[in-house]
Amino acid sequence: MINNLDLLKDSNENINEYIKNIVENYSVDKNAKVITHGCQMNEHDSEKIEWLLEKMGYNLVEENEDSDLIILNTCSIRHSAEDKVYGQLGSLKHLKKSKPGLKIGVCGCMMQRDESREYVLEKFENVDIIFGTNNIWKLPELLSKNYASNKTTVDIEENSDNLDDYLGANRLYSYKSYVNIMYGCNNFCTYCIVPFTRGRERSREPEDILKEIKFLAENGTKEITLLGQNVNSYGKSLESPISFAELIYRVSEISGIERIRFMTSHPKDISDDLIYAYRDIDKLCNFLHLPVQAGSSRVLKLMNRKYTKEDYLRKIDKIKNVNPDIALCTDLMIGFPSETEEDFLETIDLVKRVQYDTSFTFIYSMREGTLAAKSNEQVPDDIKHNRFERLLDVLYSIQLTKNLNFIGKTCKVLVEDVSKNNKEYLTGRTDEFKLVNFKGNVDNIGKIIDVKIVDANTFSLKGEIIG
Ligand code: 5AD
Ligand code: SF4
Repeated sequence: MINNLDLLKDSNENINEYIKNIVENYSVDKNAKVITHGCQMNEHDSEKIEWLLEKMGYNLVEENEDSDLIILNTCSIRHSAEDKVYGQLGSLKHLKKSKPGLKIGVCGCMMQRDESREYVLEKFENVDIIFGTNNIWKLPELLSKNYASNKTTVDIEENSDNLDDYLGANRLYSYKSYVNIMYGCNNFCTYCIVPFTRGRERSREPEDILKEIKFLAENGTKEITLLGQNVNSYGKSLESPISFAELIYRVSEISGIERIRFMTSHPKDISDDLIYAYRDIDKLCNFLHLPVQAGSSRVLKLMNRKYTKEDYLRKIDKIKNVNPDIALCTDLMIGFPSETEEDFLETIDLVKRVQYDTSFTFIYSMREGTLAAKSNEQVPDDIKHNRFERLLDVLYSIQLTKNLNFIGKTCKVLVEDVSKNNKEYLTGRTDEFKLVNFKGNVDNIGKIIDVKIVDANTFSLKGEIIG
C-alpha cells in the first residue's frame, strides 16, 4: 500500500493524490460516529473527520450501538467538559465488552494536554487511537496502524503543518458553512487553557480562504462564519500582512455569499476598520460577539485581558454610534479568583449599560497549568453559584425586552431546518442571529425569506412568513 504520509510530505498540492489514495485503498464498509464537544472550531474539525471517514468508506450513524468506530472530539475549556468525556469513555467500556471489534478514538483539545492524555491512557485501556488538533489528516493512517498492531496508537503534533486546511468537510448544512481563518491564540488570558491546547496564533493565507469560500458559494453556501480564537488579529503575522476588516471586504465580493459572520473577537484588538465595516458592508451581519468576561477593571487586569471596563464601554459606544441596531453578545465569567461582591456588581453594571442581546455565561473553572489556577484566593462554590443566578436574572430580563422589541418587525431569515420541538414549524436565524420559529413549507429550507415577528420570549422569536 502507498504510504499516505509520504504523499503528503512532498507538497500540499498532493492532497488530491492523497485523497485518491484513501478512496482506492480503503473500502471499509463499516459504521462510524463522531461525538463532538466544545466550540465551533471543534464542530468544524469534526466535519473534517467525518469527511475523511466517508472517503474511507465508513457510513456515519447516529447510535453508539450501531458503530464500529466511535471518535470523541474533546474540549478542555472547563473541568466539566473533560468530565463529560471521561463519563462517556466509561460507558463505552461496557459497549466494547459486548462488541469487541469496536474501535474508540479520542482527539481534540484534551489530547493536546499531557495530563488529560496520560489520564485517558492510564484509565481507559479501551481507547484505540489518540490524535490531536493538528493532525486530523493522519486519521486513515492511524486507523490502519491500529488495525495492524492492535495497540493503542498515539500521534500528537505540537505544531501544525496546516495540512488539515486542505481537507474537505462533511458540512451539516450546505447553505451555511464554517471556514477557519486562523488557529491558536497568543493572549494567555490567565484562566484559559486554549493557548496550551491550540498553540500559537497562525493565520491562513487570504487566497486560500477566498478560494475555499468561492468553492462553497458555488456549491450553495449563503452564509459564512469565519472562525478563529481571536479574529481581530488575523493576518498580522503573514508575509504580506492583511487586516481582518480587509479580509471581510474581500469575502463580501464573492457572489453567492449573502451573509458574513465571525467568531470570536478580542475587545483589545477590535479596530476602527472593523467597526466601520458594520456600516459599509451590507453582507456583514448585524451581530457582534465581543467577550468581556468581567466588569471589574481590577479583575480584568488579573485576567490579563489588557483593557479596562471603561475601554470596553468606549468601544461599545463607538460600535453603537456606527450601527445603532447591532445585536451584541458576550462571554461572562463568574468567580474568577479573588472576585469580590463589588467586582461582581461592576459586571452587573456593565451588563446593564451594554444591554446584550445574548450571552454565554460561565462559572470559573480551575485549569491546571494556567496562572489563575495557582491563586490561593479561589471563590467558594456557593458564592459563585449565587452570583451566577443573579447575573442570569439580569441578562435574561434584558434579553426578553430586546426580543419583545422585535414584535411587528419584518426580518430576513435564513431558514435552517424543521424545528426539533415541533415538526410543523421551521426554524431560522435573523441577521441579528435571533432564532425564529414559524410555520412553513420545507422547500424554504436554505432560502433567505421575509418573516414577520408576531411573538417573542427570552430565547426565541415567533414569526409568520410574508407573501
Ligand atoms: N473557566 C470558565 N470559563 C472559561 N472560559 C475560558 N476559560 C474558562 C475557565 N477556565 C470561557 C471564557 C471564554 C469562553 C470560550 O469560555 O468566557 O470566552
Ligand atoms: Fe483563551 Fe483569552 Fe485566547 Fe480567548 S483570547 S482563547 S479566552 S487565551
